Amino acid sequence: PIPALCAQYKDYFDIGAAVNLTTIDTQQELLAAHFNSLTAENDMKFERVHPEEGIYTFEAADRIVQFARQHSMKMRGHTLVWHNQTPAWVFTGADGKPADRDTLLARMKSHIETVAGRYKGRIYGWDVVNEVIEDKSDIWLRSSPWLDQIGEDFIAQAFRYAHEADPSAILFYNDYNECHPEKREKIIRLLRMLKEQEVPVHGMGLQGHWNLNGPSLDDIRAAIEGYAALGLQLQVTELDISVFDYNDRRTDLRQPAEEMLAQQAERYGQIFRIFREYKDVITAVTFWGAADDYTWLDDFPVKGRKNWPFVFDEKHQPKESYWKIADWR
Ligand code: XIL
Repeated sequence: PIPALCAQYKDYFDIGAAVNLTTIDTQQELLAAHFNSLTAENDMKFERVHPEEGIYTFEAADRIVQFARQHSMKMRGHTLVWHNQTPAWVFTGADGKPADRDTLLARMKSHIETVAGRYKGRIYGWDVVNEVIEDKSDIWLRSSPWLDQIGEDFIAQAFRYAHEADPSAILFYNDYNECHPEKREKIIRLLRMLKEQEVPVHGMGLQGHWNLNGPSLDDIRAAIEGYAALGLQLQVTELDISVFDYNDRRTDLRQPAEEMLAQQAERYGQIFRIFREYKDVITAVTFWGAADDYTWLDDFPVKGRKNWPFVFDEKHQPKESYWKIADWR
């Protein structure tokens, strides 16, 4: 048997995977062998656990938490407040118009109380607020019903509610394009403001949806240093290294080109070397999946473009990428 990834990294950080009800079944052995932390890929999102006002559906989330427990894995929570995968009722008032600020805040609070409260002691940390920074350079916060109907303090309020619901949970802000210098500075501005207001935010989640060409190693390093300087712990929360550039339209590849896999292995090696250097601030590295037989990138952003973003292949065997991160010594 090959070395377990999480054992190789036991003096560094947790090694996590995002899962769903299919993969805890089809990838069970791989997950149990190499990962010591799990995230629900979709099953704890607002639309899954709270599809209608006052109606909560925790069956899928509970099964994932149970799977983690059975295999002695840690469990992180994803995600409480996001503009995606949140049902329309949340933002709608009794008159069918946009809900007012107080109604929306009250709904946010009872959602967070119920979800984070339920998993107290079983989920050690939450992505409380997800992706609120705008990518376009001249705008700070992304327009969303949360922002537009509550105002900027919806972010602080979400963290306060989460802290009340589970005072021992580690609370994260989570975002993508997190290494892009301009966006990084906007994220830092948000986190600094929250810290100044003594909002209970404890960590920065770097999603890590990267590819063979970007972000640059310098930008990754600068992002880690910038976020860590705020006194936060860091987690890489959704790592995958796409073999395609974002806009590559090719959907005809049935297997990865040798060259792609060689480049990916180099890249994984370089990136994990940086992660290891920062082991004092990085507490977990979670892949957004586990092996190449299933990844959300098979449909995003180009429908039907098969991807191979992980360190285990479609048959759950180690790729060259695995050896570059597991066998560095
Ligand atoms: C993705 C899931 O992987 C997909 O299955 C789903 O259709 C859409 O959401 N940033 C996040 C994650 O924070 O929740 C997203 O997960 C990927 C991007």
